[in-house]
Amino acid sequence: MTTVMDRETELATPPMLEFRGVEKIFRNGYHAITPLDLSIAKGEIVSIVGPSGCGKTTVLRMAAGLAEVSSGELVRRASEQAYVFQDPTLLAWRTVQSNVELVAKLKKMPKVERRTAAAAALETVGLTPFASALPRQLSGGMKMRVSLARAITSSPEIMFFDEPFAALDEFTRAKMSEVVLDLWRLQQFSALFITHSIQEAVNIAHRVVVMAARPGRIDRVIDSPSPPTQDGSARDTAALDDLTQEISGLLAFDH
Ligand SMILES: Nc1ncnc2c1ncn2[C@@H]1O[C@H](COP(=O)(O)OP(=O)(O)OP(=O)(O)O)[C@@H](O)[C@H]1O
Ligand SMILES: [Mg+2]
Repeated sequence: MTTVMDRETELATPPMLEFRGVEKIFRNGYHAITPLDLSIAKGEIVSIVGPSGCGKTTVLRMAAGLAEVSSGELVRRASEQAYVFQDPTLLAWRTVQSNVELVAKLKKMPKVERRTAAAAALETVGLTPFASALPRQLSGGMKMRVSLARAITSSPEIMFFDEPFAALDEFTRAKMSEVVLDLWRLQQFSALFITHSIQEAVNIAHRVVVMAARPGRIDRVIDSPSPPTQDGSARDTAALDDLTQEISGLLAFDH
């Protein structure tokens, strides 16, 4: 498989998420998002970059059903969804294993199934040896890995990320996109991934949405020249670097 799925299957499968002329006007009258059209295919990762305040979080909150749409239509076809935010929100008195199982447990996933899914997720994020550790024994990067493992244990069809790695140091952060992609290879979820890091946006996604501010809108949607693949084959880093440069230019111009 070279892209998300072959083109025919993609066309035959309805998108996991669709924005059709979606607008957001806050109660104070602020018109945060002007009519926005975007769809995310099954198994596709779409990232969003754009200047601070352009409406990225607003778009994600509407997509996830955490905020109302003012007008237009939002179609969500996923039956299971998960969020990953900056704060890993682990329960201090529970072990890593127990934290990873928590969301699945709340969703009443049977115990054996939950155990197996959590073990696979922990293995993928590289934390099997820490299954019995408590959160305070982990570094910031490791806590984030636990948060990622917990999010996928309930088998979400779509995942929402709002700058999940912004609080991590650059070195740790660079590895996190790869962890997300490893999880994606395990479960093939669709994802909407917001980040301030253009490099991260380019590295993680099949398509990059560049937003502009005042009013919040999509400036451009760019197909990755070398998208992540299921088999983890090597990416064309030169092409990805060029895209990073191109988007940096677009955003510099916007300010
Ligand atoms: N509840 C609200 N009421 C009124 N205005 C709001 C509300 N929430 C957000 N806004 C405004 O909407 C705009 C978009 O905010 P949003 O948080 O979506 O931006 P963002 O792109 O995520 O920014 P950042 O990169 O800083 O996280 C901002 O101008 C913000 O001030
Ligand atoms: Mg935001």
